[in-house]
Amino acid sequence: MLFSLSTISCQESGSSAETLNVFEVNAKLGKGINIPSIQNMNNDHYKLIKDAGFDNVRIPIKPFNETIGDEDFTLKESFLESLDLAVQRSLDNDIMPIIDLHEHHAMQADPIGNLPMFLAIWEQLADHYKDYPAEVLFEIANEPNMQPSIWNQIHSNAYNIIRKTNPNRTLLIGTVYGNQIEFLKDLALPEEDRNIIVTIHYYEPIQFTHQCVSWSSYSDICGRSWPAAGEEEDVISDFNVAQEWGTENNRPLHLGEFGATYAVGAESRIRYTRFVTKQANERGWSWSYWELNQDFGIMSLGSGQWNQQYLDALIEE
Ligand code: GLC
Repeated sequence: MLFSLSTISCQESGSSAETLNVFEVNAKLGKGINIPSIQNMNNDHYKLIKDAGFDNVRIPIKPFNETIGDEDFTLKESFLESLDLAVQRSLDNDIMPIIDLHEHHAMQADPIGNLPMFLAIWEQLADHYKDYPAEVLFEIANEPNMQPSIWNQIHSNAYNIIRKTNPNRTLLIGTVYGNQIEFLKDLALPEEDRNIIVTIHYYEPIQFTHQCVSWSSYSDICGRSWPAAGEEEDVISDFNVAQEWGTENNRPLHLGEFGATYAVGAESRIRYTRFVTKQANERGWSWSYWELNQDFGIMSLGSGQWNQQYLDALIEE
């Protein structure tokens, strides 16, 4: 199917008053990294991220425990202040921030029960950031682990709320069950709205990327290397499925999470990171590595030191 590209006027911002279509927004979004620990970051960290060659940060937020406890689910001022700071520091350093509502555990446990809170929070966030530059993007939900029919209803509800105050903001919407590629076919998007980037995650083979860490289901697997025979081809064919879907539906793609933990041997971890990054770049996807400083981390926040070999694997490709 072919669609004409509608253009998106960027709201006034220091860096761009251009008019970009959503594929150009995605190109500008470029290379990025998830920053799950904004409370522990200062402006220097954002500068280091920019100087290293990243163009975006994905900011996973967990607001469900950050309301004042009233029936309107009013967000605490302290929560918004901390998020404002992260967003502003990103913009000040010419990095595009993605505000990612990262409450997948609670939403998975009770999607309908938590829906009023989910929507009330989006209404507040959308209103709060409505005058921010077009470089600030919203991601409706991380890893919606629920049946496609339920997720399609939920993201459509949130979409309608967000569009009331943010008619021109680029949104990210992803697929069910860990943002998996195989569920792209089940994603129902508002056909006429071309200002949407579709987001997927990739951790395959999960027995490799999530091996040998206590919190993972694969804690008993240790020492597995990559690639075993055929595993590079598997990444290529998975990514081709996504690319074909993107082309057919005329939607740009973002790889919002990928990576392997510290428990993976360095050689395999570098090789995997480099390979997945290269595959995403070759297809023109934007991406955000999971993540800056925790179990998949590549920087020590305390010293501001990168683990150079993992950084190179991301940036050199
Ligand atoms: C998940 C989540 C993230 C988690 C990571 C590693 O898909 O989005 O919160 O820490 O991937 O398993």
